[in-house]
Amino acid sequence: MGKILVTGGTGYIGSHTVVELIKNGYDPVIVDNLCNSKIEVLNRLETICGVRPKFYQISVQDKEAMRQVFEENEIDAIIHFAGLKSVGESVLYPEKYYSNNVGSSKVLLELMDEYRVHNIVFSSSATVYGVPERMPIVESDPIGNCSSPYGDTKYQIELLLMDYAKTHEDANVAILRYFNPIGAHPSGLIGEYPTGIPNNLMPYITQVAVGTLECLTVFGGDYDTRDGSCIRDYIHVCDLAEGHVYALHKLETKPGLVIYNLGTGRGTTVLELVHAFEEANNMKINYKVGARRDGDVPENYANCDKAYKEMGWKATRTIKDACRDSWNWQSKNPHGYDK
Ligand code: NAD
Ligand code: UFG
Repeated sequence: MGKILVTGGTGYIGSHTVVELIKNGYDPVIVDNLCNSKIEVLNRLETICGVRPKFYQISVQDKEAMRQVFEENEIDAIIHFAGLKSVGESVLYPEKYYSNNVGSSKVLLELMDEYRVHNIVFSSSATVYGVPERMPIVESDPIGNCSSPYGDTKYQIELLLMDYAKTHEDANVAILRYFNPIGAHPSGLIGEYPTGIPNNLMPYITQVAVGTLECLTVFGGDYDTRDGSCIRDYIHVCDLAEGHVYALHKLETKPGLVIYNLGTGRGTTVLELVHAFEEANNMKINYKVGARRDGDVPENYANCDKAYKEMGWKATRTIKDACRDSWNWQSKNPHGYDK
């Protein structure tokens, strides 16, 4: 496999994965409509990698424009990151989420058929497990019953991919269920910068640290956990990016359908993450403990043994590494990719 179509490749996880792909000798072709990322990412990628990846500014939903990409490039595999990911927004505009997320996945599968591309890696999420019955979560645990339209789109796309694999003998499909990605490339040239006030914990912490936001609210201090705050499985985005290279290697063995959790296997509380950030960067974060946030589950962390056993992948970076790298990115780019 050489040429990899990376949809959503200028986004947070996509851009880090493009770095890993180039490092491992692959030739990524990025498709992104820039609805949640900036063109400046390409300059940063060129600085890190020494080559500028090929880029098309189009929506994956636009089948005719996508057909051109397949005509112009002999694609060996697709990594499909493109999608909308705001849980709150999806509750307000579910149809936008279904048409963008499910719609673009359908277009890709149709074009895979047409151009005889057999391999696809899909960005799924721990959210497909809904309210999990036990911890840590294994891949065979029940999915569905998601707590948002965003989660439902991930579940629907998984079903679509499972049916595709069933009906296409030559298809190789890797569904990767990410837990909570944090951190940034150690260069500080690429990282996460959400538009507006961040919903996610780490960008909120870094924006308090840089002075853009005043105070972090810890959502709930009365959960039945070791310090009362929620537990999540925070994974360094570079570990996650490497997971995609391992998944491509796995697809080269023609496994049909495979599904892996990508996390660290360790749970960290909100307060532990805040304190790890303070320690890693030798600073204080202004925070207060407030009310619970609707829809949060008390704990969510992965069993990642399957990814290790079958692909040889495991996360190697620590929470402290991620806290240092998130701050390195944020402090060097207080306004993200904007000047
Ligand atoms: P991101 O928003 O930074 O990246 C997604 C990219 O897709 C953006 O650059 C956006 O412009 C692009 N995009 C969206 N719709 C498109 C379309 N129709 N055509 C072309 N480009 C389009 O998000 P991310 O954090 O990098 O997430 C990547 C994928 O991983 C998403 O599918 C997301 O749902 C999934 N995921 C993310 C997390 C997380 O916490 N970040 C967790 C689990 C799963
Ligand atoms: N949190 C705070 N204060 C904040 C933001 C978050 O205390 O300002 C807490 C949350 O309550 C939660 C933890 O930090 O306990 C992590 O919250 P995030 O919003 O960063 O992440 P979630 O686990 O809620 O959501 C993530 C992804 C979603 C995905 C979900 C389920 O962002 O896309 O995991 O897997 F759907």
